[in-house]
Amino acid sequence: MDFLNVEEGNVRIKIPQFEKVSSKAPVFYNPAMELNRDLSVAALTAYQEIKDDNISICDAFGGSGIRGIRYSKEIEGVSMAVVNDLNPLAVELARENIAENSLANVKVCREDANLLLRKCRGKFDVVDIDPFGTPSPYVESAAASLRAGGMICVTATDTSALCGTYKKPCIRKYGAKPLRNEYCHETGIRILAGFLCRTFSKYKKYLDFQFSHSTEHYMRLYALVGKGAKNTDQSLENLGYIAHCSKCLNRQVFKGMTPRIPSMCPECGGVWDVGGPLWCGKIQNSDFLSSILEIVPNLNLNTENKALKLLERCYEESDSAPTFYDLHAICRKLRTSVPPMDLIMDSIKEGGYDVSRTHFNPNGVKTDAPLNFIEKIIIKVEK
Ligand SMILES: C[S@@+](CC[C@H](N)C(=O)[O-])C[C@H]1O[C@@H](n2cnc3c(N)ncnc32)[C@H](O)[C@@H]1O
Ligand SMILES: [Zn+2]
Repeated sequence: MDFLNVEEGNVRIKIPQFEKVSSKAPVFYNPAMELNRDLSVAALTAYQEIKDDNISICDAFGGSGIRGIRYSKEIEGVSMAVVNDLNPLAVELARENIAENSLANVKVCREDANLLLRKCRGKFDVVDIDPFGTPSPYVESAAASLRAGGMICVTATDTSALCGTYKKPCIRKYGAKPLRNEYCHETGIRILAGFLCRTFSKYKKYLDFQFSHSTEHYMRLYALVGKGAKNTDQSLENLGYIAHCSKCLNRQVFKGMTPRIPSMCPECGGVWDVGGPLWCGKIQNSDFLSSILEIVPNLNLNTENKALKLLERCYEESDSAPTFYDLHAICRKLRTSVPPMDLIMDSIKEGGYDVSRTHFNPNGVKTDAPLNFIEKIIIKVEK
């Protein structure tokens, strides 16, 4: 087998030469996930700082070992990182990569991730779930394994299900109906968040989301784990549904397990398309994001500029409500050209409403202003 050397952050690892990124590769490595790994290093550094103690990390789907190796080398106060993978070639290569980087606190394991997490209940502060496609078959083991005060990090690459291109797989894997519209990446990440919370709640555990992003072909969530029946019940009140009208672009959040959702849009009489159950609560924490924003320039990241831009957007939108308006979609409906974004945002602010951009979509605006107010502004600006 021919090998290739890869440098990311402060590590150098070898991976089998490849022409095309594929889950069929002898050992999986995806260069497009470097930003994901860079942000993970920064986020777990912020977590370690909050904990103010040594942390142990389980990289449950390790592949070449690059994540676990980077966590151990680039984050201070990592007492132990376990790199696990079911593929024997991956485990062998991870072992070599760990030795090449002279790391004594990284252990290698070849186990089904579910078995490992169950066996090591309570041992890890951080569990990182980065499988092929959906994380849904592994979340329950992470929920059983993680203690209060721990952190779960999850990647999902099955965005076609979460974002409603394929409805049935989303219902099968996440027990939720997706929406296919201009803000489907946000509803997708909220379906994943809702699924995580429902799974953790079986163990009287709840999640406090710190950082969430949807980038290219994947979604990534970071959440702190809390414990207790009362707090878990309270947290579940953030579950609900989003009803969307594709005729007039109106949308409404309906919180609760069985809210009364009318069948028609009150604005135009169109039929609501309803997505959920999903997480209607916060998916960003501005304090956590400002810590990561401070940490990123001190790390040695090839994706620094991209990472900072994404984090700034997430910070900006951290206190806004679910869903956003796509200005291009509104302008298509109004049959007008698209006015400058800043002008529209300033006018919304002058109207006394909150407004921010969103990392989900460069044409997206998050605001508590009603749709007809935004439309009036667009028409006025156009005139
Ligand atoms: C997306 S790759 C991981 C990539 C790696 N985390 C990185 O950042 O480069 C998913 C990995 O999970 C492994 N895998 C698949 N099913 C597994 C299971 N049930 N338990 C443990 N590992 C598994 C695969 O062999 C593959 O290496
Ligand atoms: Zn409508």
